[in-house]
Amino acid sequence: MTVSRLVYISRARQPVADGMVEAILETARTKNAERNVTGLLLFDGMNFMQLLEGPTYEVEAVFNAIIADDRHSDVVRIVSETGVQRQFPGWSMGYAFAPGDRLPEGKGWFPLTNGSLQAALPSKVDPAVRMLFTSFLSVARAA
Ligand SMILES: Cc1cc2nc3c(=O)[nH]c(=O)nc-3n(C[C@H](O)[C@H](O)[C@H](O)COP(=O)(O)O)c2cc1C
Repeated sequence: MTVSRLVYISRARQPVADGMVEAILETARTKNAERNVTGLLLFDGMNFMQLLEGPTYEVEAVFNAIIADDRHSDVVRIVSETGVQRQFPGWSMGYAFAPGDRLPEGKGWFPLTNGSLQAALPSKVDPAVRMLFTSFLSVARAA
């Protein structure tokens, strides 16, 4: 199967509603599992960065729904590649959050600090992908 990878950044609509990220993750994990899409979502309370990977058609379909979602705006695609290795095969949607975020640890999410994120990433993650997450963290609001 040819795997495509898409990464975008966006800005959450403020103020962020209670339970918004939990609701997004619940939908994302269910739908992505049906579509054979996996990836990782980072959120610092202000901006999102999300990596989606899977069959091209499915990744683009999910991204089209995401673009139309009014819980965020200013969606900018920053990576679009095809014929790549899937990096997060076990993660229907992993999640990392900023230290100020209220989500508890566990259940497939972890705090958004550089060391902990790097440690939580699957060990074989492509250096270019790792670099993207590191870049996001270096400008993350709460990092
Ligand atoms: C930051 C963010 C990330 C999202 N990630 C996903 C995702 O990975 N997969 C997904 O199916 N929906 C995701 N969604 C939700 C979609 O925007 C959309 O609400 C959902 O797919 C349902 O779409 P539908 O009503 O067209 O079926 C995300 C939304 C936001 C705001």
